[in-house]
Amino acid sequence: MLMYDIICKKRDGQELSCQEIDFWIQGYSSGIIPDYQCAALLMAGLLRGFSRRETIAMMNSMIASGERIDLGDIPGIKADKHSTGGVGDKTSLVVMPVIAAAGLQVAKMSGRGLGHTGGTLDKLESIPGFRCQLGADEFKRQVREIGLAIISQTADLVPADKKLYALRDATATVDSLALIAASIMSKKLATGADILVLDVKYGSGAFMQELADSRALAQLMVELAQQSGMKAAAVLSAMEQPLGYAIGNALEVSEAVAVLSGGGPADLRQLSLTLAAELLVLGGVADHRDQAEALAREQLASGAALAKFQQMICAQGGDSNFNHLPHAAVVTAYQARRTGYLSTIDARKVGLAALCLGAGRQRKEDAIDPAAGIVLHYKLGEQVACGQTLAELHCRDQQQAAAAAEILDEAFAYSAIPPEPIPLISEIIS
Ligand code: URA
Repeated sequence: MLMYDIICKKRDGQELSCQEIDFWIQGYSSGIIPDYQCAALLMAGLLRGFSRRETIAMMNSMIASGERIDLGDIPGIKADKHSTGGVGDKTSLVVMPVIAAAGLQVAKMSGRGLGHTGGTLDKLESIPGFRCQLGADEFKRQVREIGLAIISQTADLVPADKKLYALRDATATVDSLALIAASIMSKKLATGADILVLDVKYGSGAFMQELADSRALAQLMVELAQQSGMKAAAVLSAMEQPLGYAIGNALEVSEAVAVLSGGGPADLRQLSLTLAAELLVLGGVADHRDQAEALAREQLASGAALAKFQQMICAQGGDSNFNHLPHAAVVTAYQARRTGYLSTIDARKVGLAALCLGAGRQRKEDAIDPAAGIVLHYKLGEQVACGQTLAELHCRDQQQAAAAAEILDEAFAYSAIPPEPIPLISEIIS
């Protein structure tokens, strides 16, 4: 088999066989196929499209490129969650303790964030002492003992995806639904869970800007999961404005703890309950969504979910009283530039402002400032007066604050009449 012939076939719009896809993915992963040939095939595929059969074959080849976690020796239903990423999205910190408290097993592998969205691990690592690199035995023991562990993905998990994603990123070939779905689902399937909820976001701060694209991606990912024997559902949620009020790692942990303690912002709470409810239904803990959501609410109201989260933090070496979360040296107010209703709080721009304060990383090797970030005081549609504090900027110095404020000037828009509300959750696909 020649990679040259495979590229020609895709260039001419033909469907590749499973053997050809395997030859390509394994060959690239092991270094036999060079970047330039792989990039040519990726671009041909992006322009010509990949069939459902090809997408499944890509996903399976990627899974086969590394180790597959076997959770079979852990009793119970193992649940996982994936978010396509959004600004202020800390739902995993709420959803996973809630479902663990309700009886599901959570053995979750997470990633770090890049760009204007932070990853779950970055948030957890802002808790002093928290360890996210557990060995396989310790990871499984913790899940058996307390039903909840969140750790970092190992290097051996789907290595083909890591290499392919870096190449896609550099060759403008990320935006293929088939490649995105195969990439995400290969990682989810390799970690061995039985059930999965996908939070597929759309809007300015999301990977997908349009609802129709996020719906198509969600449908494809649910189908790929089902093909492989994993039960999955997807929630389509809006990311026009940040989720909750806090953006930045330690600030988001505090906000998640507020929800786990029975309070916190309404949007974060609602989305977390919806995602948890989907998992409780998929896992057979509840018969239908209403019952599942009531059960999830109970875990928050009773303190069971907070206790579960604290158990996990403690087991992984962290300060489970959250008394020593890092605080920024400078906290400064960002004020409303006009009087009116907030008609835009552009999530992407708020994310970029948080990045500028040190809350995110532009390159993989960049260090994050765990204390940095933004706390909004208002949500979309609320009325503000010129000069009122719209947000607190948490950072190291006034220079960072001034640079972030310039970005925020473009993130907020004001109107004389209240804007149309945007529903937080548009659809659930199961
Ligand atoms: N996230 C992934 O993990 N893979 C993609 O291709 C896109 C987003």
